[in-house]
Formats: sequence, structure tokens, C-alpha cells
Amino acid sequence: MKEKLEQLRRQTAEALEALSDKKALEELRVRVMGKKGSLTELLRGMGALPAEERPKVGQLVNRLRQELQEKFDAREAALESAAKARRLEAERLDVTMPGKRRPAGGLHPLNQVLEELIDIFQSMGFDVVDGPEVETEHYCFEALNVPKDHPARDMQDTFYLGENLLLRTQTSAAQIRVMEGRTPPIRIICPGRVYRADEVDATHSPVFHQVEGLVVDKGVTMCDLKGVLEQFAREIYGPETRVRFRPSFFPFTEPSVEVDVSCSECGGKGCRICKGVGWIEILGAGMVHPNVLSVCGIDPEVYSGFAFGIGLDRLTTTRHRISDIRLLFENDRRFLSQFAE
Ligand code: PHE
Repeated sequence: MKEKLEQLRRQTAEALEALSDKKALEELRVRVMGKKGSLTELLRGMGALPAEERPKVGQLVNRLRQELQEKFDAREAALESAAKARRLEAERLDVTMPGKRRPAGGLHPLNQVLEELIDIFQSMGFDVVDGPEVETEHYCFEALNVPKDHPARDMQDTFYLGENLLLRTQTSAAQIRVMEGRTPPIRIICPGRVYRADEVDATHSPVFHQVEGLVVDKGVTMCDLKGVLEQFAREIYGPETRVRFRPSFFPFTEPSVEVDVSCSECGGKGCRICKGVGWIEILGAGMVHPNVLSVCGIDPEVYSGFAFGIGLDRLTTTRHRISDIRLLFENDRRFLSQFAE
């Protein structure tokens, strides 16, 4: 009997060592310790022993049961911790590995230049206002001193949306809305889309962008206009930049000027960018016409003002040496991604 017990101890210990998962362990546990297991069978065999040996053998069987119980538990714990170690190893992350880069979005070059421009004018005390792209003839032309039969309308043919409604040809329309709604002093810029019935080519697009500027106050002169525009041009194109006024005509300003800046590429000597002239035209401007002030209920005897209209697309193409304005509207990511910051 003793030998049988000893044999069971040894065999069980070996089998425990040999198995490698919990399922096999549970099967072995049933085979040895279960109701029909080897140990129970040995216990039954005790009936055949002489009565005086039974207590002793019973004790041995009980001790073996306890011992095996502990062995099973220990082996189970060891299997569990080995499985856990394997799982951790498999799930291990190398945090030093380079990450996957996601392509980041970026501002459109037009918006980048616009933000810069807004910064510059805000630092000079200008508010930014918005105006509708669908305008009435009144705001886009009549109030700006362009009556129905005026030849200046030809230059700004646009898309009509019905009687009296059109897509604005110039952000100047916003001047009127601002003067109607505010009392001087007024200092605003109004950026936005404008439309004209133009054929598309490298320098024309039926939709483009302007930034209108308007200042109205007592004693505003052309010197103020020049000072503001020089400050603006130097911040955009660099401190060496020179500004020149050429006489021009706009129905809503008097006198009117075209404003050129010295070419930032060649410094004025003439190059491909400025087409050899050394200057680049960037905006139209002038002193607000007295008729325009009057229409808006501002007394031209008391107040004066200046206005300017910057071509944002032109500013952007010269700034980045973009040769074709169409690139700004095609949304080709190969082009745009060059400007992502
Ligand atoms: N609105 C004019 C244009 O589109 C530009 C301009 C604005 C001129 C303000 C003078 C004053 O050509």
C-alpha cells in the first residue's frame, strides 16, 4: 500500500511537471483526486487491510491528498503567471518607434496673406467688417456715384440675379453700408469675394478677392492715406519698399490714384516678376467723393475720408511668385501643400 502511495506521488508530480496548460492540469486533477480518481481508489482498497494498519494508512493517504492538493495549486499558479508573462510579452509596445504622421491641413495662401493683412490694419486701429456678396445696384453702383448709364459700369460687368440684384463687383459696396450704419470716426477694412464677368486666364478670374479700406473723420487728408499705405506696404513687402501714387479715376473717390509698390524681387530695377517696370500695382485708392459722403448722411463740409481697395489675389501671387492666378482656385493639393505651415 505504501508503495502504491509513493508511486502515485511520483507519477503525479512528474505528470504535473510535464503538462503545460490549465486544461491538462484540471484533467489530471480529476484523474487523481476526483470521485473516481486514483487516490479515491486507493482509499477504497484500504478495506482489504488488517484493521490495525488502517488508521496509519489512512493518515498517509490524507497527508498525500494534502500534499498533492498543494502541488496542484502551486503548479496552477505557476502556469497562470507564465501565461500572463507570455501575454505581456506579446502585447508589448515599443514607445520609441517613430509614429505615423498624419498629413496636417493648412491655411490657403490667400487666407495666410489675408490674416497677415488683417493683423497689420488692426494694429493701426481698423475694425474688420463683413458685407454681402449678393448686393443691390444701389450699394454696388448708385451710392458709389456710378449712375445707371455711367461708362464705369462697363468695366465692371457682373452676374445679375434678377431685377436690381447682382454679385458685387467690388468690396466698395461695404463702404456705403458702413457709413450708413456708423458715425465717424470710421476706420474699417472689409475683405471678401467679388465677381466680374471676365474670361478666365492667367491673370483674370470671374471670382477674386478684395480688401476694402475706409477711413472717415474730421481733417483726414491724402497724407494720411499715403502714410497708412506705406506702413502697410513695408510690413507686407519689407522695410525697403517704396510706394508711388499714379493719378487715376474712380467715380467714388476724388482725387483717385493707382498705388504701386517697388518690386520686392528686384528692388525696382526691373525683372520678370514686375515685367521689367520695377513697380507692381497692388491697389486703387482715393479721397472719398463728397457725393458718396452725402448719400450716406455724412456732411462733406465737416468730414473727409479716404478709401482703398486691395487686390488680395495679386498680393498673394506677387508675394509667393505664383505665375497663374488659376492656381489659387483649383484646390490642387500638390500646389496648396507647399504653403501649409
Ligand atoms: N473698388 C475699386 C475697384 O474695384 C478699387 C477702389 C477701392 C478704388 C476704394 C478706390 C477706393 O477697382
